[in-house]
Amino acid sequence: MKIYIYADKEKLFKDVSRQIIEEVCKNPNCTLGFPTGSTPMPLYKNLIEDYSQNKTSYKGVTTFNLDEYVGLKKNDVNSYHYYMMKNLFNHIDINLKNANIPNGVASNLEKECARYDALLEKHNIDIQILGLGVNGHIGFNEPNTLVSITTHVVNLSNSTIEANARNFNSKEEVPTRAITMGLKNILNAKEVILIATGLTKASAVKMMIEGTMCNTCPASILQTHPNAIIYLDEEAASALKNSKNIVIKN
Ligand code: F6R
Repeated sequence: MKIYIYADKEKLFKDVSRQIIEEVCKNPNCTLGFPTGSTPMPLYKNLIEDYSQNKTSYKGVTTFNLDEYVGLKKNDVNSYHYYMMKNLFNHIDINLKNANIPNGVASNLEKECARYDALLEKHNIDIQILGLGVNGHIGFNEPNTLVSITTHVVNLSNSTIEANARNFNSKEEVPTRAITMGLKNILNAKEVILIATGLTKASAVKMMIEGTMCNTCPASILQTHPNAIIYLDEEAASALKNSKNIVIKN
């Protein structure tokens, strides 16, 4: 696990964007894993800006989103389909046939998970980008998820529902279930980039990096990944005390 800490958040997102753009230029048929949420918004903004300036093409790129709420249709403003279209896919030349997101309104959710796993098996993810939940989740792999798990339906924890309620009119409107790629799918990626920013993530960051690897903090499993980079701003890194492999980026 390499840990990069940035005083300048803008620079953090420039560096992550550069890494993604370099991958797409080097390997135009690469496979990328995407998160939603507040954290990656500046990354998507940078990718769109680069596309409009430099025409970096995503025509051959395949993408997999980590998760989708159960019960929200693609055109629901709170669905992750809608989020990806609005914040990235509508603005680049990706072939939408290659942009995979679990279907949260599938009539048979177990079959949908199996379909997603079968697709993931065909495509080895080159770079998996992740955000971090305040409770240490990655994707929607909540505390006490098994490491061996692949795509599955999850009951969202109360802390996740509370954290995500900011996007809905009330906490009661937040779906209680989601489909998520499993920890096993995430660990299969050749490279993992996790981004965490802000004070609310500090304790999860500490558990992920300095805690013993255990399923109380699902993100701690990244300690075993041979090629994981953790990008943090100073607030998210503020609880770290004795981490190795830290690089301070200014
Ligand atoms: C979203 C996802 C989640 C988020 C996490 C952080 O697709 O997989 O793990 O990355 O909940 O969310 P934000 O960035 O909104 O704090």
